[in-house]
Amino acid sequence: MEQLIQVKKLSRDYKIAKRDGSFLKFMFSREHKIIHAVNSIDFSILKGELVGFVGPNGAGKSTTIKMLAGILAPTSGEVSVIGNDPFKKRKQNAYHIGVIFGQRSQLWWDLPIGDTFKLLKKIYKTPDDIYEKNLGLFKEYLDLESIWNQPVRQLSLGQRMRAEIAAAILHNPELLFLDEPTIGLDIVAKRQIREFILKLNRDYQTTVILTSHDMKDIEEICERIILIDKGVIVVDCPVDELKQSYNKTAVVKVNLNEPVLAFDIVGAIGRPEDDGLKWNFEVDKSITTTGHLVFEISKIAEISDIEIKEQAVEDIIHDIYKNGV
Ligand SMILES: Nc1ncnc2c1ncn2[C@@H]1O[C@H](COP(=O)(O)OP(=O)(O)O)[C@@H](O)[C@H]1O
Ligand SMILES: [Mg+2]
Repeated sequence: MEQLIQVKKLSRDYKIAKRDGSFLKFMFSREHKIIHAVNSIDFSILKGELVGFVGPNGAGKSTTIKMLAGILAPTSGEVSVIGNDPFKKRKQNAYHIGVIFGQRSQLWWDLPIGDTFKLLKKIYKTPDDIYEKNLGLFKEYLDLESIWNQPVRQLSLGQRMRAEIAAAILHNPELLFLDEPTIGLDIVAKRQIREFILKLNRDYQTTVILTSHDMKDIEEICERIILIDKGVIVVDCPVDELKQSYNKTAVVKVNLNEPVLAFDIVGAIGRPEDDGLKWNFEVDKSITTTGHLVFEISKIAEISDIEIKEQAVEDIIHDIYKNGV
């Protein structure tokens, strides 16, 4: 597989004024503090990969994306995007990438989106056939027809984000960087955007790097997850592997045909509901399995209904932040 992105010992510092004591001291102080926003990270990304960048606020996700997109120069280390240094070859890089920052718009505020697309077609010299195909995709997946003639400033957040994504991929970039593309959107708009991203990946093998606070976005779109915390990569693995190897607990809910007062099962803590007919078990998977638990329960009482809930990716990630890998 073709390697599109290579990052080696990449770091980015920010220098900020030290904030201690009075406002005057702050204003006139020459003291500075260095923040290691991104601290010597390494990874590479292959063509067609769908990668989720996850981490708490301030982890360094946006800073990394800005360096990949050529918006920000690294303090040290190497970045290569499709064979180029994205910051030094910024213009060249722009043809290969699409970028979206959910927090700020990149569209012309006063132009109707239809006109914006025509302008972008000219800027990027997009061939007619690709332009037409993409307009077709937008109409089918992003529901843009009804707002075609409206200026961007009149659009709702959901409409605007759909237009942003359309504008970012109009020139068929091989690489798409999405920084919080679904922030503030309702479920319907989120779903539309997720489906569209997956469609791009299927049709064009578009490589996607995505950050999101919504773990549903990550679970539904991404195959690989890069977990970043305090500027350092903590985990980099397939989403499935994360689920398998870090999934330490499961919840098993059973309905029984006769009430049971107490269970004593190694590796599972049981809590009764109602009058002992319903039980919730928290299973420690390092000690036992859900299968063994069910077997042990059924030796004591007949099970009429059962539900097994594995830990969600979101819980797994919170666990990693709290307790380490
Ligand atoms: N322009 C900036 N000037 C100074 N500090 C910044 C700047 N941008 C980001 N930071 C700091 O760098 C760290 C990483 O920020 P960021 O990359 O935006 O994190 P994330 O996107 O994961 O929330 C944070 O501590 C943040 O406060
Ligand atoms: Mg950010």
